[in-house]
Amino acid sequence: MSSGSRSHTAPPPSGRQPVTLPQLAEMKAAGDPIVMVTAYDYPSATVAEEAGVDIVLVGDSAAMVVLGYPGTEPVSLEEMIVLGKAVRRGLRTPLMVGDMPMGSYEASNELAVRNAQRLVKETGCQVVKLEAGGISVERARAIVNSGIPVMGHVGLTPQTATALGGYKAQGKTAQGAIKLCEDALALQAVGCFAIVFEAVPAAITEAIVEKLEVPTVGIGAGPATAGQVLVFHDLLGITTGRVAKFVKRYAEVNEAMVAGMRSYVEDVRSRHFPEPDHVYGVEPAELADFRTYLDQESLASAKSWDWEPLP
Ligand code: KIV
Repeated sequence: MSSGSRSHTAPPPSGRQPVTLPQLAEMKAAGDPIVMVTAYDYPSATVAEEAGVDIVLVGDSAAMVVLGYPGTEPVSLEEMIVLGKAVRRGLRTPLMVGDMPMGSYEASNELAVRNAQRLVKETGCQVVKLEAGGISVERARAIVNSGIPVMGHVGLTPQTATALGGYKAQGKTAQGAIKLCEDALALQAVGCFAIVFEAVPAAITEAIVEKLEVPTVGIGAGPATAGQVLVFHDLLGITTGRVAKFVKRYAEVNEAMVAGMRSYVEDVRSRHFPEPDHVYGVEPAELADFRTYLDQESLASAKSWDWEPLP
């Protein structure tokens, strides 16, 4: 397989400085919206880099959008590390967040710290994210104390979607909103530098973020959060089929990919590809010498050519 003339070095410097945690806090204080997106490989990272986003999350949504699993539960830490390494090669300036997959942090503080360290050391992400409140608050505290910054995630937490009653908005009752608020305050109290709010009614988000000091990043949580995040494949129209209510399509890349692939199939079948522009030439004298070689008696029948493997 060939990648043609595409470069596989990191994208050119954009003139922007790498995004830092104090800068995110300053953006929140100044009311400058924080832009976050997911990425799972080198090309998606370079797109995020070139578009100037502030935070790139190597999300466990990779399980569904790039690995084809039905939910986020099956993705392993090893799989997340492979994806994270590829993302790192495509990023210079955005803050890179490594998502801790289900099973990589819940069982104990030791496990959580060890796996957070693996994500940072092996992928080059600067910070990690883990989902939910409850026991995750203790795990977040342990990871923060080990020196790795943590982003929290409340509301719809896909790793525990079954327990939450499915992929649906959270905090729609007063009781649910209180739980969500307590989780967010607890995550802030143990030192999370930011918190994702997923699928939460806009008015509930607005009321909770007023009580928080750390930046919040919303996905389906309305406009009150300090930033917004969307899944790369959803916003660019790479995913097909039903998408969540909160997704806005900014492109229809899947349609363009299928149309391009169909044209390629037709061109090959109708012998319109490759064209003269796509082939390499050879000096006529070299070609003539090669033909002379092929015309030798011993090569008269290539099928009966007596090939001796090297010892
Ligand atoms: O994995 C992911 O993509 C996420 C975002 C939805 C925040 O956690």
